[in-house]
Amino acid sequence: SPSDPDLVERARAAKEKLGDKVFVLGHHYQRDEVIQFADVTGDSFKLARDAAARPEAEYIVFCGVHFMAESADILTSDDQKVVLPDLAAGCSMADMATAEQVAECWDVLTEAGVAEQVVPVSYMNSSADIKAFTGKHGGLICTSSNAKRALDWAFEQGEKVLFLPDQHLGRNTAVRDMGMSLDDCVVYNPHKPNGGLTAQELRAAKMILWRGHCSVHGRFSLDSVNDVRERIPGVNVLVHPECKHEVVAAADYVGSTEYIIKALEAAPAGSKWAIGTELNLVRRLANRFAPEGKEIVFLDRTVCFCSTMNRIDLPHLVWTLESLAEGNLVNRIEVDKETEAFAKLALERMLALP
Ligand code: 13P
Ligand code: SF4
Repeated sequence: SPSDPDLVERARAAKEKLGDKVFVLGHHYQRDEVIQFADVTGDSFKLARDAAARPEAEYIVFCGVHFMAESADILTSDDQKVVLPDLAAGCSMADMATAEQVAECWDVLTEAGVAEQVVPVSYMNSSADIKAFTGKHGGLICTSSNAKRALDWAFEQGEKVLFLPDQHLGRNTAVRDMGMSLDDCVVYNPHKPNGGLTAQELRAAKMILWRGHCSVHGRFSLDSVNDVRERIPGVNVLVHPECKHEVVAAADYVGSTEYIIKALEAAPAGSKWAIGTELNLVRRLANRFAPEGKEIVFLDRTVCFCSTMNRIDLPHLVWTLESLAEGNLVNRIEVDKETEAFAKLALERMLALP
């Protein structure tokens, strides 16, 4: 939708008044009306690094979801304030693993006699509590752009990985990039006693996948891939690794949002692409590359926005920037000190990956 000119002017004025005191980060899934005010855009990994590289900014306004703002708070100094323009912008995947459930899982692994061999690897899309659990137990964080390197590191430290909370990213990375088989992976279901697994199954597994998923990427199916190949002969299918394994296996290319953008930048004129990720990003890319003769379509026939990413809209951004410009600190995201210390350990292990 086109931005309201009055709101655009108000956002611009508030941002100008704040000057270098504010730094606005925008995830690639954000709306166009918000992205136009981002000082930097990126995937989860790039934004975590960029947030940490702005020590002079008093306010980091994070246009993204809650776990991203938490990570930014963990990686920035204590006097920097991270602000999320709508506190209801969570992530349903991150909510699928709670601290209590993960502690219980660790008890199950201990009981089965495997905990000592297990290194936890948690996807960035998790709460600060889960990141702290990960750091405490010798593990690290990964994003969709470094999951293979994170798993390589983890398998140097131990024989098994507990992968939280996205089963698809875990399975896709293990099978596609690490040469494991589907049989090397088991799924731990936090809603079943003992995760629904026997001690025998836990002992045999290399990858213990938490039963979480992204509901946005979960909408893409093998049918969506077959369908688009029929509709558009010669199409390149490019999907995010949060998609189901069968979708990833049928795709031509797989990668993070930043990877998707780079792939399309490098694509030749006249090439055709079907993209399996969130719709704000796909629409923006379709519009951007149409003049260069690149045809870009959404992988599915139904629309598929991330509803929580979409909560950050121009009115929320204007309210946030105007409040900060008037000296009112609103919607601060602050992780408590103890959680922060262990979560930081896990994040720094990721940032130190080769
Ligand atoms: P990336 O931007 O790291 O690819 O992650 C996608 C995502 O789902 C973020 O919530
Ligand atoms: Fe969470 Fe999926 Fe939305 Fe990303 S796209 S924020 S994983 S619900």
